[in-house]
Amino acid sequence: MRGHIAVPGDKSISHRAVLLGAIGDGETIVSGFGRSGDTEATIAAVRALGATVHEEDVDTLRVEGAGLRGLRAPDVPIDCGNSGTTLRLLAGILAGQPGRFELTGDESLRRRPVDRIAEPLAQMGATVETTDGTPPLTIEGGELRGIRYELPVASAQVKSCVLLAGLYAQGRTTVVEPLPTRDHTELMLAAAGVRVTRQQRRVSVGPVESLGLGEVVVPGDFSTAAPFVVAATLLPGSELTIHDVGLNPRRIGLLDVLARMGARITIFHRHRSGGEPVGDLEILSAELTATTVRAEEVPLLVDELPLFALAAACARGESRVEGARELRVKETDRIETVTAALRAFGIRITPADDGFVVRGVPSRPRGGAMDSQDDHRIAMLGAVAGLVSRDGADVGGAEAVAVSFPGFFELLDSVTQR
Ligand code: S3P
Repeated sequence: MRGHIAVPGDKSISHRAVLLGAIGDGETIVSGFGRSGDTEATIAAVRALGATVHEEDVDTLRVEGAGLRGLRAPDVPIDCGNSGTTLRLLAGILAGQPGRFELTGDESLRRRPVDRIAEPLAQMGATVETTDGTPPLTIEGGELRGIRYELPVASAQVKSCVLLAGLYAQGRTTVVEPLPTRDHTELMLAAAGVRVTRQQRRVSVGPVESLGLGEVVVPGDFSTAAPFVVAATLLPGSELTIHDVGLNPRRIGLLDVLARMGARITIFHRHRSGGEPVGDLEILSAELTATTVRAEEVPLLVDELPLFALAAACARGESRVEGARELRVKETDRIETVTAALRAFGIRITPADDGFVVRGVPSRPRGGAMDSQDDHRIAMLGAVAGLVSRDGADVGGAEAVAVSFPGFFELLDSVTQR
C-alpha cells in the first residue's frame, strides 16, 4: 500500500458541529465536514427541527442556528437512521426544548439501548418514554435541573447527552465517567463560549443564554484512517502517508496498541485545528507480536477493536481484548460479528463475554466470504482482511461502508499496489 491520502472529516466532530450550529446564534461554517450516511442523518434531523443547513460544497456547510430554544417539534418522528450519536446527542438538546419529540432510526438503531440516556434525562426533569429501553423514544422537554451523574458505562454519547441537556438546566450539571472517553463535545462547547470545567474524569457545565461556534474546521477521521493504518502495517512493502488526521488522545488508542505490537507508524507535522490535535501519519509495514487490550484502554479505540482483531490475527502469539462489553451494543454485536467475519478467513478467534482472544499466526490468512451484517466497520474489516489474505475476500453487504465513508473502496483501490 503506497501513496499519500487524506480521509473525510471526523464523524464525531461533524455531528457535533451541526448539532451545536443548529442551536447556536447566527451562522456556523463547518469546513472539512465528513459527509456520510450518519452525518447526513444529523443534517436531516436538524432541518426537520427548523434549523437551516446550506450545503456550500461537498464538505462545507453553513448552518443557520435556530438559537438555544428555537427548535420546533415536527409532525413526524425524527429518523436518525443508523446513527447512535445523532439520536443520543439530539435527545440531550431536545430535553431542553419546549414540545414533544419522537426519535427513531433504522432496524439496527431500534435495537440499541437508550435507557442509558433516558435515566439521567428523567433525573434532570424531562419526560422520556422508550420502547422497552430502545427507540422509538419520546421526549417532552421541560424545566431541567442540573445533576451530578456517574456514568454506569464509559460512553461519550451518554456523557455528551447529559452535558447538552445541562446547557438548559438550572444549576450546574456534572458528569463523572468511569474511564476517559472522547471529549469532542467538551472541546466544542468551550469553543462555542460555554464555561466547561474539567478534572480527570469529571466534566461540568452550567446553563447558558446562547452559544456561537463561528467556524469549525473538522480534521480527518482517525476511525476512517484506521483501516488504512492496519492494511499498510500488514501488507509487505507498504509506505503510506495519511494527511491531516485528527489525533485527539482519546481517539488514537489503536496507535499505542499497534506500537507495542511492533508497528512502524510516525506522526509528522503536528498542529492544532479548532482545539483538536491534528497531524500526518506515516505507516511502514511491520511484523507484529501479540498484546492485550485492557478495559481502561477500550474507550480509546472502541471503534477500532474489529481492526485490532485482524492485526492480532497476523501477529505472533495470543492477543486478547478485555472489558469491552460495550462492543455488544454497537451497530451490531461486534463481538459476534467480528468473530464470524474473521472465522470465515480461517482465523482462530474465540469470543468472550466482554471481548475476544485471537491466536495469531505471522503469515497471511487464507481468503474467505463474509457478510457485513450491515455494519460499516465490519464491511471495512472484511475489505482489509481480504487485501491482506492470500486469496481475497467476498464481502457481502459491502455498501454499508457508506454509513461512515461512502468513498472507502475507491480510496482503498487508489493506494493498493497489485
Ligand atoms: C461516539 C462515541 C462512541 C463510538 C461512536 C461515536 C461519539 O460510542 O462508538 O461510534 O461520537 O460520541 P459510545 O459513546 O456509546 O461508546
